Amino acid sequence: MATRTTIDGDPDDILCATDTTVSDTSEAAALDMPSRVLTGATRVERAWAHWRALGAPRFLVAPMVDNSELPFRMLCRKYGAEAAYTPMLHSRIFSENEKYRSMEFTTCKEDRPLFVQFCANDPKILLEAARRVAPHCDYIDINLGCPQRIARRGYYGAFLMENQPLIKSLVETLALNLDVPVSCKIRIFPNLDDTISYAKMLEEAGCSLLAVHGRTRDQKDSTKFKADWAALRAVKQALRIPVLANGNIRHMADVNSCLEETGCDGVLSAETLLENPALFAGYKTVEWREEGDEDGCLDQADLAVEYLRLCEKYPVPWRMVRSHVHKLLGDWFRIHPEVREELNKQSTLTFEWLYDMVRRLKELGVRVPLYGGRNAVVDKIVVNGAAS
Ligand SMILES: Cc1cc2nc3c(=O)[nH]c(=O)nc-3n(C[C@H](O)[C@H](O)[C@H](O)COP(=O)(O)O)c2cc1C
Repeated sequence: MATRTTIDGDPDDILCATDTTVSDTSEAAALDMPSRVLTGATRVERAWAHWRALGAPRFLVAPMVDNSELPFRMLCRKYGAEAAYTPMLHSRIFSENEKYRSMEFTTCKEDRPLFVQFCANDPKILLEAARRVAPHCDYIDINLGCPQRIARRGYYGAFLMENQPLIKSLVETLALNLDVPVSCKIRIFPNLDDTISYAKMLEEAGCSLLAVHGRTRDQKDSTKFKADWAALRAVKQALRIPVLANGNIRHMADVNSCLEETGCDGVLSAETLLENPALFAGYKTVEWREEGDEDGCLDQADLAVEYLRLCEKYPVPWRMVRSHVHKLLGDWFRIHPEVREELNKQSTLTFEWLYDMVRRLKELGVRVPLYGGRNAVVDKIVVNGAAS
């Protein structure tokens, strides 16, 4: 979850196409908006009204540094994601550095509902960064869950959990000075009572939506530690604002169990979506195939090509493209590691080379399908009343 701050030098840091959809609207943002105070009950009503006006999204793309960027969000939205988070942006660098803003935050009008996530430890700097993106998003999200060393050094993410007065002032400053609601993404404490009082403090401070990753700060390895859905249920029951669950989502059956067991209003998925951006349309990777699951007539190479097309339309740094190609085609590369090695040798990438690589992988004759899917797509079309 490291945030990258250097932009020059590495060809992977160059945008993958020259067109850009970024617009810096900081000038247009209201810079002297008066503060306002709402009672707790009104805030909660507003929180629900806002969530419902967005269509009460249940299936969300979690924030992922270098991975939940615009083209990937658009791909996931096409396959059933109902809302998405940007990667974590560093509030101070975002406020100070125009190049960082234009490289790391891009969006388009179809990219909604959108949560823009920042890490921060200074309320004024966070507010300044938030004002720049407020016109383009539906929530300003504060990252209170990053457990990595870089967050310890930078004093943000989960390392603020011991300084709740600071967290409170971050949330209050946004809630009092912005029209766009503030949301937070947290990890749980080892002790349930601590988690509940933390969550209540956030709600009280003006947080309009809380996403809870059901692991503690020390439980970094998701393969070793299962997310604690019972803790998520307790948080949901203790709060009055919408609560989203995060952790242990590998396919739609997990989504349904999670919503049922936790009572939460939606789920966030991160790692599974990287391999399978069609998760929320009901597709699953071969690892989770059960008897009766049929070939979904869609595979990760198809999704890789769709992703590349979106990158041509919505340029992002090549390092993000490279990262997604590795994750999307991991199952295929395990069968043909020589193709992965060739990719690793390319210090400069082009779309022609990548499309050709996918074509060659297919010609090698092994296909790894995604399973299921079609029924879920039909359901989604009926639910949303819109064809894809
Ligand atoms: C590549 C990657 C980058 C991530 N970056 C962020 C981030 O920027 N902000 C954040 O709050 N969480 C970040 N996370 C954590 C995820 O949002 C999520 O909380 C975690 O992976 C658990 O969800 P999962 O079990 O669905 O993977 C990242 C996770 C991954 C795999």
